[in-house]
Amino acid sequence: MTVLERPQPRPGVLKIQAYVPGKSHAPGVAKVFKLSSNETPLGASPKAIEAYGAVGRHLEDYPDGASSELREAIGRAFGLDPSRIVCGAGSDDILNLLARAYLQDGDEAIHTTHGFLVYPIATLGAGATPVVAPEKDFTADVDAILAKVTPRTRIVFLANPNNPTGTYIPFDEVKRLRAGLPDHVLLVLDAAYAEYVRRNDYEAGIELVATTQNTVMTRTFSKIYGLAYLRIGWAYCPAEVADVLNRIRGPFNVSGPAIAAGVAALGDQAWVQRAVEHNELWRSRMADELFVIGLSVTPSAANFLLLHFKKGNGKSAPEANEFLHEKRIILRRVTEYGFPDALRMTMGTEEENRAVLDALTSFMSANGSSRR
Ligand SMILES: Cc1ncc(COP(=O)(O)O)c(C=O)c1O
Repeated sequence: MTVLERPQPRPGVLKIQAYVPGKSHAPGVAKVFKLSSNETPLGASPKAIEAYGAVGRHLEDYPDGASSELREAIGRAFGLDPSRIVCGAGSDDILNLLARAYLQDGDEAIHTTHGFLVYPIATLGAGATPVVAPEKDFTADVDAILAKVTPRTRIVFLANPNNPTGTYIPFDEVKRLRAGLPDHVLLVLDAAYAEYVRRNDYEAGIELVATTQNTVMTRTFSKIYGLAYLRIGWAYCPAEVADVLNRIRGPFNVSGPAIAAGVAALGDQAWVQRAVEHNELWRSRMADELFVIGLSVTPSAANFLLLHFKKGNGKSAPEANEFLHEKRIILRRVTEYGFPDALRMTMGTEEENRAVLDALTSFMSANGSSRR
């Protein structure tokens, strides 16, 4: 019998561990508290939902392939030149396009130890090699990133703040990173959680994109705008990078309903402000309370907290996870991010947050090991 030769993907593709999203249901349970994907507990702005509903009459039409209305609305909201904005089906789309455009076989792209998992996936998918720079205190370390640069480096991916740690580096450090990188290396500043950050020393990347030829900032409507279901992300780029992305992106990579809802969401900044305030309140409250019951919590600037458990003693992260599932609560296991002993919790509604706190208090105090 002859053995058929099968089509083969580029070698890097088979090294990819497919991305596993946060769970959305617990076994055997109908209603759950899902705090596993950093979605907003407030939902999308009613204006965005209305705009989405209003465009369903003509599903036979292609949307505007240039997402012009959305790019103009983003430009107005952030004071940016719309011609240098590129929209995508989520920022995942943009990150993959950047990898595809700027990486080839033998190239290297740097990300940090606990960096967002899409970076190695996009890098391997483009035939290049992911290079991991160590972090300090679960935070990106500029010197460690610079130490990993070789003649083959083409991209540095930096999530700021990072998922799943929630940590960030100040703008001075981002500038120091840019200044230390060779000019031909593209610095990709992934600011998916920028709207949540309330720190004087933080800057999402707009200024650096405006003042350099080799920095891109990526953003998303999936987090604070509550439109993850629709898949909208965007990049602010040097004109040459925008031109490159426009050549390789799907010609209609953002759907009509997504464009309409995105524009309306940008027009409701009061909704965004409410989400920021809710998050500030609950993130600090939860961090304090979870510390009191004996968990170590990584300081976060975003809309989630990384909770560290201890191995053994019945108090490990997998055991906590099981316990929470029984209570209809889903947090995110982060083993593939290098944290087998941690869970990531997205800030939820008051009801959800209190449910997590009650459940983890019972879990930690069983056999009297809590500090309370
Ligand atoms: C750091 C970071 N970047 C990008 C994304 C991708 O978001 P989306 O593709 O929904 O825009 C996420 C989502 O979890 C993220 O955490």
